[in-house]
Amino acid sequence: MATLGIDFGTSNSACGVLVNGRPHLIEIEPGEKTLPTAVFFDFDARRTLFGHSANRALIAGTEGRYMRALKRVLGTSLMREKRQLMNERVDFIDIIARFLSRLKTGAEAACHTEFTHALSGRPVHFHSSDPVRDAQALTDLTECYARAGFAAVEFLYEPEAAAIANGALSTDGPGLIVDIGGGTSDFTLYTARAGAIEVLASHGLRLGGTNFDRRLSLDHAMPLFGAGGAIRNTFGDGALPAPNGLFHDLASWEKIPFLYSAQTLRDVRAMARQAVDHAPFTRLLSVLELELGHDIAFAVERGKIAANAGTGRIDLAVVERGLDVALTAGEVGVSLSDQARAIGDAAGETCAMSGVAPKDVGSVVFVGGSSLMQVVIDRITEMFPGADQKRSDPFTGVVDGLAISSASAFR
Ligand SMILES: Nc1ncnc2c1ncn2[C@@H]1O[C@H](COP(=O)(O)OP(=O)(O)OP(=O)(O)O)[C@@H](O)[C@H]1O
Ligand SMILES: [Mg+2]
Repeated sequence: MATLGIDFGTSNSACGVLVNGRPHLIEIEPGEKTLPTAVFFDFDARRTLFGHSANRALIAGTEGRYMRALKRVLGTSLMREKRQLMNERVDFIDIIARFLSRLKTGAEAACHTEFTHALSGRPVHFHSSDPVRDAQALTDLTECYARAGFAAVEFLYEPEAAAIANGALSTDGPGLIVDIGGGTSDFTLYTARAGAIEVLASHGLRLGGTNFDRRLSLDHAMPLFGAGGAIRNTFGDGALPAPNGLFHDLASWEKIPFLYSAQTLRDVRAMARQAVDHAPFTRLLSVLELELGHDIAFAVERGKIAANAGTGRIDLAVVERGLDVALTAGEVGVSLSDQARAIGDAAGETCAMSGVAPKDVGSVVFVGGSSLMQVVIDRITEMFPGADQKRSDPFTGVVDGLAISSASAFR
């Protein structure tokens, strides 16, 4: 029996095992320690692509269906809705299972070992404001592992895995892992004694980089596609604002594939006819017809990362030549201030859960891609002004801990 450590992330995933007492990350794709949690159904070649290959197919404009941020669908009713994809009826359990199965077979080929068992990371809460969905999400993910061919799966909180890998970084006083990923923010407060970690409290929030992308898209990109625009009443005078739900979905990585339906096209055609200003709605119509929703999401994400590092722009040339929006670090700070505040509050709640005062936290260890966002760093610094700040590799801090713990799972 061999156990594979798997960090199934909203945006990126990775696998690892323990080799000679150290975490060893397995290259599922050559030269890459992590892979995008992305799936592409290639309609012409009738095959399914994963990771970077899926991203490349999207960028190349290959005819097919792209999906990312699948983890956010766990626990929702969409998980078990069957839909037609390449002559097959599949649900999201199948789609995630195929992604996990790709990790399994890739790791087996690389390690010449059969991995019958999995030690998977999980956020502390998949759904932080809905306990029923939260529990359902774990049931769903467990089923995904079973359908992927694993005989059994055990779960470890993602920030606890990061604490196991990075706990030695702890200095005086308890350490706090701040893992801000694509879908969730997760925290573990711990003490390190004789090289081992003792967890004092773990806590989490369904809020991550994909939420940042959504907010920035709604504030800065969606107005170009009609958000906030007026639609004339079909009968009588006056106008109403365009329905928000559509823009919300177009700005949400996991919702984009659901917009590509005949019904949505009909709705948007009707809107375009009645719009006071036609241009944005005509653009929206072409985005839906040409299925460019993920191209917009990537443009917003790139703009976010560039603006965070200085100044950026949301380059929408893929939709229309010359279409772009400037995005400054200040604008990012304004758009994301409420979300950054919520992340800081959750970090504070983690301390409150174990009766530790924020001023007594000795070190903060940042993990996860979104912990690179200045708004997050500023808010955490404000909450824990006296703590040393350390950083693990943002994309492998969790999988390292899962790799270490995989050796002692199922004992
Ligand atoms: N340089 C950067 N600056 C700011 N944000 C970044 C940077 N690089 C990546 N990100 C963001 O980090 C997020 C992905 O981080 P990560 O890979 O840690 O998430 P994940 O582990 O897949 O998600 P989760 O743990 O929440 O399920 C994305 O939202 C991405 O936009
Ligand atoms: Mg993560």
